[in-house]
Amino acid sequence: MHVPVAIIGCGPSGLLLSHLLHVQGIDSVILERKDRAYVEGRIRAGVLEMGTVGLMERVGVDARMKREGIIHGGIYISVNGKRQHVNIEELTGGATVMIYGQTEVTKDLIQARLDHGGEIVFEAEDVSLHDIETAKPRVRYVKDGNPVELTCDYIAACDGFHGVGRQTMPSSKLKTYEKVYPFGWLGVLAKAKPVADELIYASHDRGFALCSMRSESVVRHYVQVPSSEKIEDWSDDRFWNELRLRLGEADAELVNEGEVFEKSIAPLRSFVAEPLSHGRLFLAGDAGHIVPPTGAKGLNLAASDVHYLSEALIGKFKQNRDDLLETYSDTALARVWKAERFSWWMTSMLHTFDDHHDFDGRIRKAELEYILSSKAGLTTLAENYVGLPY
Ligand code: PHB
Repeated sequence: MHVPVAIIGCGPSGLLLSHLLHVQGIDSVILERKDRAYVEGRIRAGVLEMGTVGLMERVGVDARMKREGIIHGGIYISVNGKRQHVNIEELTGGATVMIYGQTEVTKDLIQARLDHGGEIVFEAEDVSLHDIETAKPRVRYVKDGNPVELTCDYIAACDGFHGVGRQTMPSSKLKTYEKVYPFGWLGVLAKAKPVADELIYASHDRGFALCSMRSESVVRHYVQVPSSEKIEDWSDDRFWNELRLRLGEADAELVNEGEVFEKSIAPLRSFVAEPLSHGRLFLAGDAGHIVPPTGAKGLNLAASDVHYLSEALIGKFKQNRDDLLETYSDTALARVWKAERFSWWMTSMLHTFDDHHDFDGRIRKAELEYILSSKAGLTTLAENYVGLPY
């Protein structure tokens, strides 16, 4: 079988790409290693930039998001219990973000893809990519025990950090940049009312905490924990108590406890692979880069990659243009590095490191104080938070 574009990975980037191509009459097949329930159950962040919302609108998968998503025009930053509002909408001249879980984005995109007759092969095992330096790349996989081979014109690897896409790039052609932080985020999903009307990013001597939400009745909260921490050591009570301590006395009163139905620890990492393409293989989203979650940029960065890649593929299939495919990596990386910078910066400024009492620790504290007290500082935070243009 031949397909113009083989897409590896049924996360939001693979799905969005498939939709964007479909709207232009370009066929694709999505191969996914896991089953549908697994993909739809993965818990991820929940802040969409307007650029991401715009892509969902463009592919016509915005009805539920518009109904259930919550628009936020600001965030709160709390420092050792003292909370300050950052009016992002005002600072950016009207930009906002939308609170809508990545899990919901994925569910909506899968349903719409299937409704439009799109092909998604779930539980495609042992996916391997071949002849990516030729004009006829091939993708092999095993479905229900049977080997299958696809030929295609292009392969889009939207298969995450551990996927086969980046691993297929010749290592001699790939340079990777990485920063691993000495802590992770312990996150819970709970049936409870949000702490405040907008997200609270809390910097505290005991460590960072974040109060987020998925709806008016479901919260997503996090606390910074050392990388070595074990989830078994965190009872629900311990979590709620630690969260309250990091919010400080006044906001601790506002924490509504509720049934915790998901609890996990995620490591924090910054990672970029260069370039994002080789031959006819193109990487998008986490396959090519990872950001720590502090700026809520992971999904949004995947969406901007997919925007550039879809434009490049449409240019090729509709107008036989090669230039956008050739420049895809550079174009996408320029935005990726800016989001990497912002995510690293937010992470550095808001978390505690072991160097509290050292020079670097004092500089970070001074930086946070400066940013929060300066219109210019708040503006730089705000314009990055809502997402740089693309
Ligand atoms: C989330 O709701 O999961 C979330 C929100 C904001 C972040 C990170 C995660 O910066």
